[in-house]
Amino acid sequence: MLGNHESIAAPRGVLPPRFRAADGGEAGSVRVPLDGTWRFRLFAEAETGVSPADPGEDWDAIQVPGHWQLAGAPDSWPYGKPVYTNMLYPIPLDPPHVPSANPTGEYRRHFAVPRGWLGSGRVVLRFEGVDSWCEIAVNGTVLAQSHGSRLPTEVDVTDAVAHGVNLLAVRVTQWSAMTYVEDQDQWWLSGIYRPVTLEHHPEGGIGHVEVLADYDHTSGHGTLQVAVEGYDGRPHPDAVVRIAELGLETPAGDVVTAAVEPWSAEVPRLYDVEVRSSAQTVVLRIGFRSVSTAGGVLTVNGSAIKLYGVNRHEFEPGRGRAVTREAMLADVVLMKQHNINAVRTSHYPPHPHFLDLCDEYGLYVIDEGDMETHGFVFEDWVGNPVNDPAWRDVLVDRVRRMVRRDAHHPGVIMWSLGNEADRGCNVEPMFAAVRELDPTRPVHYEADKTYEFSDVYSRMYPDLTELQEMARRVDGPQPADGPLPTAEIYARRMTLPFLLCEYAHAMGNGPGGLTEYVDVLDAHERAAGGFIWEWIDQGIATRDVDGNLFYGYGGDFGEELHDGSFVADGLLFPDRTPSPGLVEAAAVYAPVSIRQRADDVLTVRNRYAFRTLEHVALRWELVADGETVAEGTTDLAPLAPGQAAELRAAEVVGETRLPAETAVWWVLSAYWRPEARPDWAAPEHLLGRGQVQLQSGSRPQDATGTITVLEDGWRVGPLRLDGAGRLVSVGGTQVSLARVDAWRAPTENDQRKTFTSISDQKAWDIPGLHRLHESVRSVSRDGDAVVVTARAAGAGRTLGFGVRYTFRAVDEKTADVTVDITPQGLWPGTLARIGWLLALEQPDAASVDIAWTGQGPGESYADSSRAARIGRWRHTVEQWQTPYLNPQENGARRGVTEATFSLDAGPLTLAGTESTVGGRTTDGVTLTARPWSDQALATARHPNELEADGLLWLHVDAAVHGLGTAALGPAPTPGTGLWPTPATVQLRITAG
Ligand code: GAL
Ligand code: MG
Repeated sequence: MLGNHESIAAPRGVLPPRFRAADGGEAGSVRVPLDGTWRFRLFAEAETGVSPADPGEDWDAIQVPGHWQLAGAPDSWPYGKPVYTNMLYPIPLDPPHVPSANPTGEYRRHFAVPRGWLGSGRVVLRFEGVDSWCEIAVNGTVLAQSHGSRLPTEVDVTDAVAHGVNLLAVRVTQWSAMTYVEDQDQWWLSGIYRPVTLEHHPEGGIGHVEVLADYDHTSGHGTLQVAVEGYDGRPHPDAVVRIAELGLETPAGDVVTAAVEPWSAEVPRLYDVEVRSSAQTVVLRIGFRSVSTAGGVLTVNGSAIKLYGVNRHEFEPGRGRAVTREAMLADVVLMKQHNINAVRTSHYPPHPHFLDLCDEYGLYVIDEGDMETHGFVFEDWVGNPVNDPAWRDVLVDRVRRMVRRDAHHPGVIMWSLGNEADRGCNVEPMFAAVRELDPTRPVHYEADKTYEFSDVYSRMYPDLTELQEMARRVDGPQPADGPLPTAEIYARRMTLPFLLCEYAHAMGNGPGGLTEYVDVLDAHERAAGGFIWEWIDQGIATRDVDGNLFYGYGGDFGEELHDGSFVADGLLFPDRTPSPGLVEAAAVYAPVSIRQRADDVLTVRNRYAFRTLEHVALRWELVADGETVAEGTTDLAPLAPGQAAELRAAEVVGETRLPAETAVWWVLSAYWRPEARPDWAAPEHLLGRGQVQLQSGSRPQDATGTITVLEDGWRVGPLRLDGAGRLVSVGGTQVSLARVDAWRAPTENDQRKTFTSISDQKAWDIPGLHRLHESVRSVSRDGDAVVVTARAAGAGRTLGFGVRYTFRAVDEKTADVTVDITPQGLWPGTLARIGWLLALEQPDAASVDIAWTGQGPGESYADSSRAARIGRWRHTVEQWQTPYLNPQENGARRGVTEATFSLDAGPLTLAGTESTVGGRTTDGVTLTARPWSDQALATARHPNELEADGLLWLHVDAAVHGLGTAALGPAPTPGTGLWPTPATVQLRITAG
């Protein structure tokens, strides 16, 4: 009956799939963990030649759960290394065969069967996840062969065990036929990486529980039907179901109704359901709720909902997919703290504990099947297992195991058959199997372009124009990513709600444009929402030769084939520090939307589907010159879901006078009322924020100081220019370089072309923006000013900029500088930035303090600026850097009207700043500070390679190009991209 790792067959010798109650949910000690130290030996081939009866006494010790490639310290992995590919298979495409060189782990451990388990009921081994194929033996007898790396396996071992010590032997191959259906975009990591337990199934116990807990929003009633199976798979003869809180007790299978509070991600109300038989009691936490896609709108409990989602891979930098409970909790809490309400478990069923947490904290889940065959795309999908009847049982088994395991979770609102596996004959039976097991939830399959096997119209990364069309239900029959559908298919598609199973690719610095996307999703009922790609950077903790930690990506481990930094595309850094992208997502997903409506009007909108804003406190501030000068709270009628109110500044701030002559902003923030605040939310958790500038700052008085002509140049206040008009020092600080700049270290989004244009990087390479040289054309005195004209262009190129510097003295310590920049010629595309670059000699530039007034505290860009707020902030240059795994442009602070740097020679202040771009003048500049050059930043492959070069590099820019998501999606939209246009930077420099 048994095959081998190259067999195309559903698991053999295993028990039928069943539900998984939370730990502690099964009364009595029926689970014994087998995690911990096991014996281990790695072999080069699947045929290890080792008997399952061999206890491996002298083998190595390894920790289970874990991946063998990551066993030991990060710099001394003894059992091979991680390999990262996105779509490519790292083995020849030759299903079901795999290379003979096939790393294979033999695992051993002894276990004892608890007293009383033998003689009544069954003894079962349960594996929560083994990657990729395994053979399980007890006391020398092979009992089962299983796979489905992200799915559980249960084996009845009753007849193989005895009292006293038993030997468990598990052989795990890295490659197997199943590799072909597990080509998700992630690290190839093997082994027993989820928990293992020994369990008792008592005679007459609860084998499987199927919960139907529906909610009728029109009556407020819940309907409960709990079907219970014995371990034999037959309806349990005498199980009883009880919800003490509702005073309900009923035989299993009966339908009961009661007035209940519904479950939703907003208010995750759970009830304890006790399922009891004479032999066993199980407690499940269930929620009453309904899900529907009727009328082309995704609803929960009768209300249209928006999924403000993320795609989550399981990941820890030192453990891979062997995630701990702490990390699962951290993920859920971080999601809630960042206003995320939905998660797609890309691209496999997660550790079941994660779903318990989603139920409890309130997250809508798309639970996805463990299937991806993306690498067949390189063969035009020829040979795709999804379209080969031989694979039918394997694939149907996988979705059945998912649904049987997870269907009792209220958080799961949709099933997904898998990811990027194209179409084929096996999709229908997979869909049918899911439908049969659970007719209550919609099914998602992005690749089904017939819409017979998907209840939603799911898309990845469409551009804004297409998104608009879909949202407004005017999309034509031809989607950008599929063949022309028939009239019938098109008609069916038009009846479905759509969702973006992936959008806003968060690779490196990004995603840009989130607001524009979510605005479209918000405005239209057909749009069910979207899931940002992806939650966490999958960077593996490793060390360089000097022992410094860094997070490795594809190519760092000597892989033959790899996909580079595409694995580092999350909203969290690997250590779970939120990236600026996550902070921005929190602002964009905020349940209380506060947006500027007019010069002094903010619109407050309730974006919840179910809650009023009763639990929300609104606090206003007047911020003058970055300092909060007045604040208070304001009452808001408790807006119903979807409702909005307009607030005018004067009505909110009342008698408060606006300070004269300074820039004044009105900031309105929504927080939890203390009595309503859930445990996971900190008091400062923002439920929304908006700001408007009520008043501009007045320009500093004109400079009236005099300039001094020196033998070899000029002195203008604290500035010293040489005879050639070059700035050589500021106060006591030497200037190593001062010129205009238009380049940045390309982000990963900048590096990729879109469907319609060349990449930004290319557009900057063509004119050589990364090697600009300035040539002075004239230096002259114009009244009390020194005027220098120059031209800047890239080595070897003609395109360039006309530049005019005007220097004026205010007094000995202060000077005004105006930099006028005019792009000349016909440009191939965008500019990265336009402004003035200064490199100041400053040893230990990383520890220089910067105190600034402007948008902060984190970085912001034209299309990623919702999280930034006006204020006065203080960071060191080091803190100013964002350590993207693959170094690139970062750290821009916008709207900076004043900044003081603590240089060795004394404080240096840039103030009174103003930018003019394309004729429009605004307060402040975009400021960037680094202890290394942009060239060094662009060259480094990892942050640990960056070394301070003794200079403080400052960019004082009139504008910086937006971010976009061109790595997978569109470039910055016209409003946020920077196209060649005249610009002026104006600033007042004070030294000392
Ligand atoms: C999508 C895919 C994801 C990931 C992403 C790129 O097409 O579904 O798994 O590969 O592209 O980061
Ligand atoms: Mg893929």
